[in-house]
Amino acid sequence: MTIIKSTLGLIGALIIIVAGCESLKSSKPILPMKEYEKMLIGRLDADYIGTRNCLSACHYHDKIRRDFEASTMGAQLSKKSGMPIVDCESCHGPGSLAVKGITPERVKRDASEGKQTACNYRTLINIKNLPPQAKSLICLNCHTANATFSLHNWNASEHAINDVTCIDCHNVHAGPDLIVRPRDTFRMCIKCHKDVEAQYSLPSHHPIHEKRVFCTDCHDPMGSTNENMLRGDSVKATCTRCHAEKEGPFIYEHAENTEDCTTCHNAHGSINNNLLKVQLPFLCLQCHPGHVISSSSSVDDKRLSYTRCTDCHSQIHGTDIPGADGTGTFTQ
Ligand code: HEC
Ligand code: HEC
Ligand code: HEC
Ligand code: HEC
Ligand code: HEC
Ligand code: HEC
Ligand code: HEC
Ligand code: HEC
Ligand code: HEC
Repeated sequence: MTIIKSTLGLIGALIIIVAGCESLKSSKPILPMKEYEKMLIGRLDADYIGTRNCLSACHYHDKIRRDFEASTMGAQLSKKSGMPIVDCESCHGPGSLAVKGITPERVKRDASEGKQTACNYRTLINIKNLPPQAKSLICLNCHTANATFSLHNWNASEHAINDVTCIDCHNVHAGPDLIVRPRDTFRMCIKCHKDVEAQYSLPSHHPIHEKRVFCTDCHDPMGSTNENMLRGDSVKATCTRCHAEKEGPFIYEHAENTEDCTTCHNAHGSINNNLLKVQLPFLCLQCHPGHVISSSSSVDDKRLSYTRCTDCHSQIHGTDIPGADGTGTFTQ
């Protein structure tokens, strides 16, 4: 009877939580922090029992445990007690109710009947159905901005604001290695950014597939104070980390254009050579009239001047050398 009652109670609680999530999703109010903290307490009638007690009877989670213990997170031991600083219950909540009644004998008996003994995992925190803020709070409880410096701008990041959570990017049970390497990021990011993936299939693109440039070279996905979560203070500062020769200052600058490389270039990919937004000469003709070279009346020059402007204006990003007439025409 009590089992039925508590099961009903639990189902009721689950419905409330799930319904709560629905309304959170649609209206996105930010609750006071303590409301999210409450969601992470777990069942008040359960106790913490430690990973060993959680997992000693049945062995279904041995691989998860081995991987986890070998990971940087699982390997942290308290200097004082020698006990793990992070264990299963740090994230899943107190486990006593989940393993209540599970004994090696019962596991054996179930196995002989061809059954797997499932722990009562419904008594643990229902991570999957938590609102996004609470999901991330599981991690932020330890990974404060002081402990993990790269999370300094997390709360104001486009990702946090748009309900992306830590566990959308980090799968803590993927294996023993929790460190994100640059080469892992493309796969991580295009899970959601399909449009960006498509841009990288265009003929001119930064060598992401070639593993020479990575999403995280330019973006800080856990938040930055800059637009588009860029690593640099501006687009130019982001680009010139690698293309230093375009940084200037030059005696002859191309007006304020070169301050924003994206006036002429796409950052990810383009159908045009050199990542250009618009093909030559049309790129230049957006702002300049074409011209005929005054010193020559040949038809050839006329044609030329309307084709590849950069054949002559080869230093289009800026130069210290004046053109033939002593002004900055970016020809040398
Ligand atoms: C740092 C936080 C954290 C720790 C520590 C942790 N887990 Fe998890 N675990 C998660 C998250 C997050 C999920 C995914 C929840 C979801 O989306 O359903 C998960 C999912 C699971 C699942 C179900 C999905 C799967 O991969 O099979 C099991 C089982 C599990 N954890 C067992 C464990 C065990 C056993 C330990 C201790 C060795 C442990 N976890 C430690 C965060 C954690
Ligand atoms: C109980 C505290 C605690 C919780 C909760 C916790 N972590 Fe950790 N985590 C640590 C500690 C301690 C380390 C190892 C030291 C470090 O790198 O900061 C670590 C390391 C990591 C690393 C590896 C960093 C590296 O350089 O090797 C990642 C990634 C990580 N945690 C992600 C998460 C995510 C995602 C969550 C939430 C699902 C989470 N952590 C929850 C304490 C915690
Ligand atoms: C959009 C994907 C994404 C989200 C969301 C995200 N991370 Fe990360 N995280 C990364 C990437 C990529 C790296 C590797 C860092 C790098 O290359 O600069 C990383 C690195 C880390 C590291 C280890 C390296 C370090 O900088 O110390 C920790 C710890 C970490 N993240 C924790 C978290 C926590 C906690 C959250 C949620 C508050 C979170 N991450 C949200 C993608 C993400
Ligand atoms: C060479 C630097 C660079 C690399 C590498 C890069 N980005 Fe970007 N990204 C930018 C710049 C610059 C902008 C701003 C574009 C603008 O203002 O036109 C941007 C904009 C974005 C945007 C927002 C606008 C949009 O197009 O939706 C997303 C999302 C994005 N990048 C995701 C990614 C992902 C995912 C990767 C890896 C597959 C990646 N970026 C690799 C520089 C880069
Ligand atoms: C779980 C889905 C998800 C993953 C994974 C993800 N993003 Fe995002 N990202 C979003 C959403 C949602 C937004 C906000 C809406 C939008 O601009 O599309 C966003 C926005 C962005 C923006 C634009 C920020 C701005 O200021 O407008 C950039 C840049 C970006 N993400 C880069 C990355 C990078 C780099 C990675 C991989 C490390 C990544 N994202 C992984 C969902 C995701
Ligand atoms: C992490 C380093 C890095 C950053 C940051 C970076 N680039 Fe590049 N860029 C490269 C590499 C590597 C190549 C390929 C060069 C090669 O193949 O010789 C390249 C190539 C290019 C090309 C020529 C593409 C082609 O089709 O030949 C252009 C244009 C370009 N980058 C513009 C930019 C702009 C604009 C930014 C800023 C939004 C930027 N880059 C940021 C590394 C970077
Ligand atoms: C006024 C338009 C314009 C602006 C602004 C601009 N570029 Fe370019 N960029 C071009 C053109 C045109 C080419 C192709 C040159 C050619 O045809 O030889 C080019 C080529 C490149 C190349 C590849 C060839 C080379 O010279 O290495 C890189 C890298 C590059 N630009 C980086 C940048 C960066 C970084 C910025 C911002 C600081 C920037 N560009 C701003 C027009 C522009
Ligand atoms: C977004 C508009 C824009 C684009 C695109 C653009 N320019 Fe310019 N350009 C300017 C402005 C503004 C000036 C400064 C005009 C001035 O000082 O009179 C300038 C100056 C110049 C000058 C020097 C003019 C002088 O009198 O000193 C040359 C040469 C030039 N651009 C060539 C090009 C070429 C070639 C392209 C294409 C690769 C191009 N521009 C693309 C806006 C643009
Ligand atoms: C055959 C070489 C050549 C080609 C091709 C060429 N230019 Fe020029 N351009 C010059 C020279 C040389 C000057 C210096 C002015 C002069 O001496 O007539 C110049 C001057 C300019 C100026 C300075 C303003 C002025 O008229 O005094 C602009 C702007 C300009 N070119 C834009 C372009 C654009 C846009 C294209 C492509 C549609 C282009 N040029 C193609 C050689 C060329």
